[in-house]
Amino acid sequence: MDFRAYNREAWDREVERGDQWTVPFGPDVIEAAREGRWEVLLTEAKPVPRDWFPDLRGADVLCLASGGGQQGPVLAAAGANVTVLDNSPGQLGQDRLVAQREGLDLETVQGDMADLSRFADESFDLVFHPVANLFVPEVRPVWAEAYRVLRCGGVLLAGFLNPAVYIFDLELVDNTGEVRVRYSLPYADATSKSEEEARRQIERGDPLEFSHTLEDQIGGQIDAGFVIAGFYEDRHRDDPIAAHMPTYIATRAIK
Ligand SMILES: C[S@@+](CC[C@H](N)C(=O)[O-])C[C@H]1O[C@@H](n2cnc3c(N)ncnc32)[C@H](O)[C@@H]1O
Repeated sequence: MDFRAYNREAWDREVERGDQWTVPFGPDVIEAAREGRWEVLLTEAKPVPRDWFPDLRGADVLCLASGGGQQGPVLAAAGANVTVLDNSPGQLGQDRLVAQREGLDLETVQGDMADLSRFADESFDLVFHPVANLFVPEVRPVWAEAYRVLRCGGVLLAGFLNPAVYIFDLELVDNTGEVRVRYSLPYADATSKSEEEARRQIERGDPLEFSHTLEDQIGGQIDAGFVIAGFYEDRHRDDPIAAHMPTYIATRAIK
């Protein structure tokens, strides 16, 4: 299966369905960001510490797999030169909508987070990569490309899932709230679920997910050349698994 093509259409559908990660920020958020009052999320609830960011005024920022008219426009309003790369035309349309509405200078690029070949080496000061690598089968190429396009001293801010969430039967959790261990890692919706369950997910048109080991998430950043200089955990808001453990991780990595 062509997962990238499938997830492109799936995320366009999420835009039509009004998923929370596709809803463009309003004029009040952008106006506040222009005045220096802003915060953005890499995960679900905890804002990224402001001291994780370089000075954004005039900084070249790549918002990686970060469409939806949210973080990109905020960082642009805070003074950065922002490029948003995303696989979903619908998600990028939300960024253009906010940029046009607010008169922000922001570039949108449709592409794959693992292939940044359209960008020259050392062309960004910050790569901002919120939780999204669950939608690609391999995460190490994403770290290698982020490293290549960052300038020396540049910063990669990344959010991702703790892979332990994937050992549970998430459909059972969704339907009954009961948390039951069912799967082994590595997990992928397309191959770990029963054929019938995977077929139903594809019929619903929901994005397909993949777990990644912490070795690939954290070790992968280090192997790409980064030094990890910041770390926090976060939780899904209304998820029974999050009652038992933090479900998200955020890292600050320096080239
Ligand atoms: C949970 S949303 C993240 C964006 C959101 N604005 C946020 O607040 O985090 C995940 C994003 O990853 C994008 N995506 C999925 N697969 C991708 C890929 N292979 N390359 C680039 N972006 C991808 C989706 O289109 C979607 O916009």
